[in-house]
Amino acid sequence: MEIIVKDNVEGMSKSAARVVARTLNSKPDAVLGLATGSTPLGLYKELVRMHEQEGLDFSQVTTFNLDEYVGLTQKHTQSYHYFMYENLFKHVNIPNQNIYIPSGSTDNYEAFCKWYEQRIVECGGIDLQILGIGSDGHIAFNEPSSSLGSRTRIKTLAKQTIDDNARFFDSPEEVPVYAITMGVGTILEAHKIILLANGKNKADAVAAAIEGPMTSMITASALQLHRDTMFIVDRDAASSLDMLDYYEWIQDKMPNAP
Ligand code: F6R
Repeated sequence: MEIIVKDNVEGMSKSAARVVARTLNSKPDAVLGLATGSTPLGLYKELVRMHEQEGLDFSQVTTFNLDEYVGLTQKHTQSYHYFMYENLFKHVNIPNQNIYIPSGSTDNYEAFCKWYEQRIVECGGIDLQILGIGSDGHIAFNEPSSSLGSRTRIKTLAKQTIDDNARFFDSPEEVPVYAITMGVGTILEAHKIILLANGKNKADAVAAAIEGPMTSMITASALQLHRDTMFIVDRDAASSLDMLDYYEWIQDKMPNAP
């Protein structure tokens, strides 16, 4: 794993945007895996800026989102569909037919999940997957005890995740209890992965994912198995890492650190 520590959330976002831009420059028809939540907001803002001011082109890009709440329509302001259009898709030139987001309102979840997995394979697999991390160590909505081999399916959200996400809803009771999510096994098939984290409330999860034992109780720890994963974190999110000095020493010597 590569670990990049930035002074603040802006640095984290810009560094991640550089990784995305490099991917698109070397492969204009790249398949991107996308996350929602607070963490990637700065990244999406920077990608929109690069598109508008530097001509970063998304015209051949395909995207697959990690997850969606079950029971929210695409128009619901807290749905991940809505989030993605508001924060990225409305502002860049990804063809609409190349955008895939799990459905939170299909009448056949099992068939949908199978189809979603198949579409990823038919599109050549995910070239670059962007991840956030939950305070309980989840990636996508693979909550503690999710199988590390899991595929796209419905998951029940952990109480901690519902509490964390209640800030976006009027009350915790309104947070959906179920989500449709790519599995850990699905994510591990991405060719390259970047996991972003900022803030003190992510520090323990980040440390457990990088330095702890690999365990289904911290699904981000499964990334230890992946050949090309980069953690891009701010100083607060890095603050529980035992080997922080070592990672920074390596980062200083990295020829192409983003
Ligand atoms: C969102 C997702 C989640 C979030 C995680 C962190 O698509 O897959 O795993 O990345 O819950 O959320 P924030 O960024 O809001 O702290």
